[in-house]
Amino acid sequence: MKNMLTGIRSTGNPHLGNILSVIIPSINMITNKKYSSFIFIADLHSIIQTENIQYIKNSTYNIVATWLAFGLNTENSILYRQSDVTEVTELAWYLSCFFPYKRLTLVHSFKKEENKSKINVGLFTYPILMAADILLYNAEIIPVGKDQLQHIEIARRIAYFFNKKIGKKVFSLPNPFLQEKSMFITGTDGSKMSKSKNNYIDIFSSDEILKKQIMNIKTDSKSLEEKKNPDPNKDYIMYLYKLVAPKNKVENMKKKYVKGGYGYSEAKMALYEEIIHKFSTERNKFFSIIKNKSLLDKILFSGAKKAKSIAINRMNYIRKCLNFKPLFSLKKMS
Ligand code: TRP
Repeated sequence: MKNMLTGIRSTGNPHLGNILSVIIPSINMITNKKYSSFIFIADLHSIIQTENIQYIKNSTYNIVATWLAFGLNTENSILYRQSDVTEVTELAWYLSCFFPYKRLTLVHSFKKEENKSKINVGLFTYPILMAADILLYNAEIIPVGKDQLQHIEIARRIAYFFNKKIGKKVFSLPNPFLQEKSMFITGTDGSKMSKSKNNYIDIFSSDEILKKQIMNIKTDSKSLEEKKNPDPNKDYIMYLYKLVAPKNKVENMKKKYVKGGYGYSEAKMALYEEIIHKFSTERNKFFSIIKNKSLLDKILFSGAKKAKSIAINRMNYIRKCLNFKPLFSLKKMS
């Protein structure tokens, strides 16, 4: 069975984009039992952005609660926190020695930062740690959003360089798994949905805040009476509604748009109600799980144990390939 792996950074609740493009498709894949699955919370990646360590720790719980609310079964998958399996940072170092510096400077997330004096080395080497996440478990199928494609390509290149130099297939080459419908979820302003742009929809916020996020969707200034353009590429309400509502309701809204006499705020209310309706089970589950920190800790502990015992074995092998033999070899975890 091939290994599937994906991670989400611990910066608040996962937004609707994460849920549609990563969480739901991954859970479907796990349910179909086609892969051995590794799901983790990328808290080590999160510290490149914030000094608020407590926020990262709390957000870890929110990510775990989201996976559980959407039905992740931790009996047939391994759900763990990245920082609990410290082997990954050792591997990241080895991998960094197999990848050309120049190539890393071309990575979008680094290149787009105009003020280089403001960023840290962690942001620069982010893709290397991500490659380590993947290659440590020999993962081949990586469900991600479209913005992560470049990172997966780097992990592939590193695996290839490493294997070539060592002369054997130490690492499998990973492939991205993209959900066609939701490859690139746009937010309330029409650009990619993202925490940093504040254009996201967080289905786990309170009713009131969720409503505010939806009311914030950008529209043109057409009056209530005017006919409106129902093209989801032009109208962001329509776009989001199409992602969550059944076909007949979408058709209905389209008709109202074309006819006129239907205001944007009414359309936004319909979207709000649809989201509340569609995710009511998950929201209830989330709100009850997030309160139960000891359950969440228990789940994280058992996931870390499983992930770490695999990681320890893999690292022993990888060290051997590099001719490193630690004087004090680690005991296998029981
Ligand atoms: N960079 C990913 C994101 O921001 C998170 C991530 C870290 C990840 N390591 C990973 C995703 C490994 C897939 C595989 O969304």
